[in-house]
Amino acid sequence: MLNDKKILFSGMQATGSLTLGNYLGALKNWLALNDDYECFYCVVDLHSITIRQDPSELRKRARDLLTLYIAAGLDPVKNCIYFQSHVPGHAELSWILNCFTYMGELNRMTQFKDKAQKHADNINAGLFTYPVLMASDILLYQADIVPVGVDQKQHLEITRTIAQRFNAIYGDVFTVPEGYFGKNSAKIMSLQDPSKKMSKSDENPNASIYLLDDEATIRRKFKRAVTDSVAKIAYDDAQPGVKNLLDIYCASTGKDIKDALGEFEGQGYGVLKDAVSDAVCALIIPLQERFNELKKDKEYIDSVIKENAQRAYYASEKTLRKVKKKVGFPEKIK
Ligand code: TRP
Repeated sequence: MLNDKKILFSGMQATGSLTLGNYLGALKNWLALNDDYECFYCVVDLHSITIRQDPSELRKRARDLLTLYIAAGLDPVKNCIYFQSHVPGHAELSWILNCFTYMGELNRMTQFKDKAQKHADNINAGLFTYPVLMASDILLYQADIVPVGVDQKQHLEITRTIAQRFNAIYGDVFTVPEGYFGKNSAKIMSLQDPSKKMSKSDENPNASIYLLDDEATIRRKFKRAVTDSVAKIAYDDAQPGVKNLLDIYCASTGKDIKDALGEFEGQGYGVLKDAVSDAVCALIIPLQERFNELKKDKEYIDSVIKENAQRAYYASEKTLRKVKKKVGFPEKIK
């Protein structure tokens, strides 16, 4: 490696449009950790095909997501920003690690159970071994830290288990990574049903703010956000809609709940909704402007894609060579 910094790996799927929840819950953490680590940010397109995808749609979304990473402020020179499918090592290591993962372990994964239920007509083997591919992403780069949402905790645990199992047999091959779940990273809920997470795949478009929604849409969605009839702005589990708006407000402005409550004391929900809309627009409209500029510059994005795929490839091959030797594959003749 070029320096002594520890290594960070994370990734997102290009399925669905990114929401404010993805930004405040994940991307913001990436930005916060960015300077202290050598970072790999991957668009995990291999994972996407565990669910049936429209090819041209997937291609477009994957490129948009990579562009969004940059628009959000991740520098593609300091960081490695790339497509998983451009680096063959992910799939190769995944095969090898499949042979070090037990059916019983994968059977316990709650995400597998959820997805199998949701896509009962397509419970493919890739959906089952999804966590092994994710473990391979992480272990391939010897990552020390993996910032992800809490819904990925179980996948992080199995990654650690696989790494430890492999190391116990072959010696210290893999760094055993730590998950990073963000101390105060907000869990953003649906605007229409605040008991559910704000999700890319929500069927009701009013439930989510998409990062590429225009200003009028953002304001309209917040106006329609579900609140309650208590008519008091408090940070209380009994008022999940208002609580969610306060969380969004604080996560977007960097203020803490106490200050926000002071600001809104005695005010009505309309004032809160306007303030949340202002805060969110201030955050994401500039991001959209950068995104649209970047998108126009095809040559630049192409060069980022090309150069970073190469960097990722070199880093991945270093681990892969070691792994192949350890498990006993014959050496290549040059
Ligand atoms: N499974 C992750 C999610 O759905 C995405 C992902 C794939 C990932 N590989 C990864 C995240 C490696 C972190 C590290 O959110």
